[in-house]
Amino acid sequence: HDHLLGIEGMQPWEIGFLLDEAEYWVTHRQRGKQLKRLTQINAFFENSTRTLVSFEIAGKRLGADVVSMAVANSSVKKGETLLDTALTLDAMHPDVLVIRHEAAGAVQLIASKVSCPVLNAGDGQHEHPTQALLDALTIRRRKTRLEGLRIAICGDVLHSRVARSNFHLLSAMGAEVRAVAPPTLMPPAIDRLGVIPFTNMDDGLKGADVVMMLRLQRERMAGAYLPSEREYFHFYGLTEKRLAAAADDVLVMHPGPMNRGVEIATEVADDIQRSAIKEQVEMGVAVRMACLDVLTRQRRGLAWNGEGW
Ligand code: CP
Repeated sequence: HDHLLGIEGMQPWEIGFLLDEAEYWVTHRQRGKQLKRLTQINAFFENSTRTLVSFEIAGKRLGADVVSMAVANSSVKKGETLLDTALTLDAMHPDVLVIRHEAAGAVQLIASKVSCPVLNAGDGQHEHPTQALLDALTIRRRKTRLEGLRIAICGDVLHSRVARSNFHLLSAMGAEVRAVAPPTLMPPAIDRLGVIPFTNMDDGLKGADVVMMLRLQRERMAGAYLPSEREYFHFYGLTEKRLAAAADDVLVMHPGPMNRGVEIATEVADDIQRSAIKEQVEMGVAVRMACLDVLTRQRRGLAWNGEGW
């Protein structure tokens, strides 16, 4: 089956194809019938606002019967294992499964056991592929390209699946990608990802065309270095003053949820000219429509590029 488990290993033309398909849904705002009579199950074992709601809207705009499982009320709470839950959902013959889980690799495991396409909506610290695609679409629309752009991804890089997916995508598309983080929140093998590391925020922001801020993920820091919020903001918070080091037409991004006054100052987050944060959310629906459509094509008797076999 065709799954979307991560950006790693995807070819630039595959990424470009998904972005072009998403662009179609942005410019032609009408609904489609691509998923009519198909059943989409969203199983989110971890909290979400943006990803869950936009996957629901995307499926509905394409005509799917969309079911979102409320994990808090599910039998997972009675001790059912992840695999038993997956096989139970599979027995209801969904046509596509969208899964978020707190453990890296859990979505891949489910994908190997079910008989329909699976889309990864975020697995632990591993990948969040549709987030990277919607970020890329936002950048491409504002800057007309990805290639050659200087993109600084800043903050809690270590715990961020958003950063990981973006490193793979933006490097594959020819951008100059920087990781800006405190030494304690920098992944050890960062240069193997083709990314330039910076531990000083002002150096990392110099000349950046895009500054992507990340949430300080305290829930993933059990027992590790926990900076105070004031200390963190002082050294790594994105302020107007700090942003002056970036390019004049810099684009500011954040995948959400934001911690205002921790990783980003309110005046920067709400800057109408430079902040693309709301646009990112808007692009999320189009990107998820594209992914749901393309990944169910084989099931609908179509080739991936939309033409008949
Ligand atoms: N960006 C993102 O994944 O947000 P949610 O956790 O709200 O889905």
